[in-house]
Amino acid sequence: MVRHLRSEAQAGRMLPFVVEHEGRLVGQLTVAGISWGSMCSGHIGYWVDRSVAGRGVIPTAVALAVDHCFGAVGLHRVEVCIRPENAPSRRVVEKLGFREEGVRPRYLHIDGAWRDHLVYALTVEEVPESLLARWHRAAPGASQK
Ligand SMILES: CC(C)(COP(=O)(O)OP(=O)(O)OC[C@H]1O[C@@H](n2cnc3c(N)ncnc32)[C@H](O)[C@@H]1OP(=O)(O)O)[C@@H](O)C(=O)NCCC(=O)NCCS
Repeated sequence: MVRHLRSEAQAGRMLPFVVEHEGRLVGQLTVAGISWGSMCSGHIGYWVDRSVAGRGVIPTAVALAVDHCFGAVGLHRVEVCIRPENAPSRRVVEKLGFREEGVRPRYLHIDGAWRDHLVYALTVEEVPESLLARWHRAAPGASQK
C-alpha cells in the first residue's frame, strides 16, 4: 500500500497523509485522482480509528487538507463522495460547509456491488479564508472534544 501511495504521489496524482492524534497514528486522509489542466481537482477519502471517533479529528484533517490543496497545491476544486447511509461521514462534510451536488448512481464498486454515492464539493471561490479558521469560528471547541 505504501509503495502504491508513494508512486501515485510521485506521479502527482495523489497527496497521501497519515492522521495523528496526540502523537499516535489514528487514520489516513488521501487526496486522490488529482487532475490538472482545465479541471484542477481531486477527491478526498478518509478513515479514523474508532477509539478517537466523534472528536472532530477527521473534520480537522479535511479542513487542513483543503487549505493545503487550495493554497500551496493550487487546486480549484475538491470533492468527497459518500454513500448515502454513511451518516458520520456526511456529518464531516456538512459541518465543514461542503456543497451537496447530487447523487452519482452506481459510482463505486464496494462490498461486492456498485454503490450510489452523494457528491459533496468545494471550489476555491467558496473558501476565501482558511477552512479550518472558518469551521473553528462557526463551532468553537469542535475539534477539542
Ligand atoms: C466518517 C469518519 C471518518 C468520521 O470521522 P470523525 O473524526 O469521527 O468525525 P467527527 O468527530 O466529526 O464525527 C462525525 C460523526 O460521527 C458520529 N459519531 C460521534 N461519536 C462517534 C463514535 N464514538 N463512533 C462513531 N461515530 C461517532 C456523530 O454522528 C458525528 O457527528 P456529530 O459531530 O454531528 O455528532 C469515521 O466515522 C470513520 O472512519 N468511518 C469509517 C470509514 C469511512 O466511512 N470513511 C469515509 C468514507 S466516505
